[in-house]
Amino acid sequence: MLLMVWSILLGWGMALALNAAEKPNVIAQGTPVALGTVDYVPERYQTGLKLYLENCGSCHVALPPEVMPTDTWRTLLLEPEQHYGQQLKQISRPFIFIVWDYLRAFSRPLVQEEQTPFRLTQSPYFKALHPRVELPRTVNATSCVSCHQNARDYDYRTLTAEWEDSP
Ligand code: HEC
Ligand code: HEC
Repeated sequence: MLLMVWSILLGWGMALALNAAEKPNVIAQGTPVALGTVDYVPERYQTGLKLYLENCGSCHVALPPEVMPTDTWRTLLLEPEQHYGQQLKQISRPFIFIVWDYLRAFSRPLVQEEQTPFRLTQSPYFKALHPRVELPRTVNATSCVSCHQNARDYDYRTLTAEWEDSP
């Protein structure tokens, strides 16, 4: 059964990849980022992104994958029953694989021997993405919006005027 789902997914992925190849390269043309996200999201990851926003953006803003290591996302997907003291609905198969595909493609693995962080304040990637910001200890999924005014629309590029104007 699983094998069947996989082969369907693979076939589907191939079809999407082939489709994409026929289209002009949008990144090279400097088209604005799809959906207001940080990165351009190729067609083959769009379903994963949509499912991610639906499943992970209802209680708090959907966090962009690059702020946490791949390992963190993996654990969070695998352990919905213990989500920071909350019980999440299990994302059903094969959707969970599609979400995982998206999260994995847009995050980086941990450097060996680093501990998997579960708080943004402990994530080396979150720090790396914020060179100008002396991050307050209280940063969490609800405070992004204080500097990223459009975080609720999954837009982490637009900054509040205070940050936009500062060097
Ligand atoms: C039922 C509501 C709910 C849903 C749905 C939900 N979360 Fe959460 N999430 C929480 C709560 C509650 C916290 C902890 C808030 C706190 O203690 O700061 C949290 C915290 C987090 C954090 C840690 C942020 C930090 O540094 O404090 C991450 C990462 C996260 N969630 C990812 C996800 C992902 C990925 C999904 C989808 C699989 C998801 N969440 C879906 C309720 C939810
Ligand atoms: C105190 C203000 C502040 C808070 C809070 C904050 N950010 Fe940022 N963020 C910035 C600034 C400013 C930048 C631009 C990089 C720099 O100058 O350090 C940035 C950059 C980013 C980028 C890179 C954007 C790009 O153009 O590549 C991402 C992704 C991001 N933030 C995500 C988040 C998330 C997710 C949260 C909440 C968990 C958050 N930020 C909380 C100020 C903040």
